Amino acid sequence: MSDVLELAAVSVVRGAKTLLDKVDWQVNEGERWVILGPNGAGKTTLLQVAAARLHPTSGMAGILEEVIGAVDVFELRPRIGLSSAALANQIPEDEKVLNVVVTAAYGVTGRWREGYEKADERRAFGLLNEWGMGPLLNRPFASLSEGERKRVQIARALMTDPELLLLDEPGAGLDLAGREDLVRRLSELARDESAPAIVLVTHHLEEVPPGFTHAMLMRDGGVVAAGPLTEVLTAENLSETFGLPLAVSANAGRYTATARH
Ligand SMILES: Nc1ncnc2c1ncn2[C@@H]1O[C@H](COP(=O)(O)OP(=O)(O)OP(=O)(O)O)[C@@H](O)[C@H]1O
Ligand SMILES: [Mg+2]
Repeated sequence: MSDVLELAAVSVVRGAKTLLDKVDWQVNEGERWVILGPNGAGKTTLLQVAAARLHPTSGMAGILEEVIGAVDVFELRPRIGLSSAALANQIPEDEKVLNVVVTAAYGVTGRWREGYEKADERRAFGLLNEWGMGPLLNRPFASLSEGERKRVQIARALMTDPELLLLDEPGAGLDLAGREDLVRRLSELARDESAPAIVLVTHHLEEVPPGFTHAMLMRDGGVVAAGPLTEVLTAENLSETFGLPLAVSANAGRYTATARH
């Protein structure tokens, strides 16, 4: 079994709709994956499975060498860092930035009890500093810009020192400078050997951070291609994934795609 993720024929069905269709996927320690695919392809659903927050309808999901269905997910979840829009929406408006991060240690949003361990507060403060958010630690989360919120969410996802980091569209809503800042930070994280395995969902090839090692392309709940990044991010694969003829170019580890006319 792969040490981080081992998905075999994982399907998720809701009513008449197949959200994931027999997905096979292996992720090993040290790997940095990017997942691309059109709206509705099933990327967020796949991340929910990988985060032990959604049970497959059929198939086998192995996460950090535990099999879903045979493990207490509440013990597994702290080993996985997740940043997603759905999670951000659960953060109370007046929640202070430091608490947004600290509460991850307790698997909750909303500071629901006093007296957190000092060590936890120190770790949260350290992470916020690393992500350039130290000066804003007492600001209400709701008052932050989109870029600032994204960095706080990543710091929160890293709070439990996870073995797997899942980031669902951390670049959404960022301006050009914000995107470039995020790509640089994620690129540094990718090259940090002590960092967990990373899975990043994005809509934009421009957001693939240099240093990422693997890619998966999804369409209609299925996998179009998966494997080493340079082999997967080809014009042919991306054209099939997005259903239009694309030209793809790579320059100094950065990718871009444009429609071919
Ligand atoms: N409970 C549900 N019942 C029926 N369909 C659902 C349900 N939840 C999600 N879907 C559908 O499953 C499909 C996959 O959704 P998912 O959120 O995984 O896509 P995605 O690749 O993350 O898309 P996006 O890029 O827009 O975020 C979508 O068509 C969505 O409408
Ligand atoms: Mg999504």
